Amino acid sequence: MLRLEKVSKHYAGKTKDQPIKAVDEVSFTLRKDEIFALIGESGSGKSTLAELIMGLQKPTAGSIAWDDPAPSSKPSKPTPAMQLIFQNPDRSMNPYWRVKEIVAEPLRLSGYPKKAAYGLAAELLAKVKLPADYSDKYPAECSGGQKQRIAIARALSMSPKLLVADEITSALDPSTEDEILRLLLSLKRTEEMSILYITHRIETISGFTDRMAVMKAGAIQEWGETETVFANPQSDYTKALLKSAYY
Ligand SMILES: Nc1ncnc2c1ncn2[C@@H]1O[C@H](COP(=O)(O)OP(=O)(O)OP(=O)(O)O)[C@@H](O)[C@H]1O
Ligand SMILES: [Mg+2]
Repeated sequence: MLRLEKVSKHYAGKTKDQPIKAVDEVSFTLRKDEIFALIGESGSGKSTLAELIMGLQKPTAGSIAWDDPAPSSKPSKPTPAMQLIFQNPDRSMNPYWRVKEIVAEPLRLSGYPKKAAYGLAAELLAKVKLPADYSDKYPAECSGGQKQRIAIARALSMSPKLLVADEITSALDPSTEDEILRLLLSLKRTEEMSILYITHRIETISGFTDRMAVMKAGAIQEWGETETVFANPQSDYTKALLKSAYY
């Protein structure tokens, strides 16, 4: 569905012949309706890659193409709906808005009348299993996990084909993290979307993601079916990550 071919993002370094290779010749494909994990330590280039996929940054080389089996009737609008969610929900939420206003904002911006947008926002909040009375609360009255549910609900309002989740559970405690992962797994099925799940913690993805890629210093070390990589890791780096996570 989404095909990355030798995608690079290099920044000018201190000297001309030593660029910072934030992302370096990354190739993989994202299938329809799968959860794909992108694993890597801090600074490995995960967020930069997410921004390249979202079109927020331009690659310095390579291509990112969306091959849609059912071509859109509007060829002028080549980018299908992609939504990005960040680690820190506070940065993308207006603290003075009520939850329903936050979730309804993308709908309002795309022309929905207020009443219809709030109606849909209520449905979206139910989808992410947030109690109905949260609709009138402010972000400060919500927990970290609840705020991520709100961010997910807002992203779903645009019926994305791809949801990019960049470290969205990294600030949560393990049981809340687990609840969010289970929510994403069920949403993948009901909403028929792919999820690019970015994390530095390999121990969170088994049983939850279909496939995975391991990234280090901008480059993919290995990628494949999650269970296969876990059972038989090929790169030394993946082996080291698994060892430090499980032993
Ligand atoms: N605008 C920029 N100019 C120069 N270097 C940059 C720029 N943006 C990112 N980098 C560098 O690119 C590399 C990858 O950064 P990136 O934020 O993508 O890593 P990450 O894997 O998301 O890390 P983290 O887990 O800490 O979020 C880092 O070495 C970073 O310093
Ligand atoms: Mg990052």
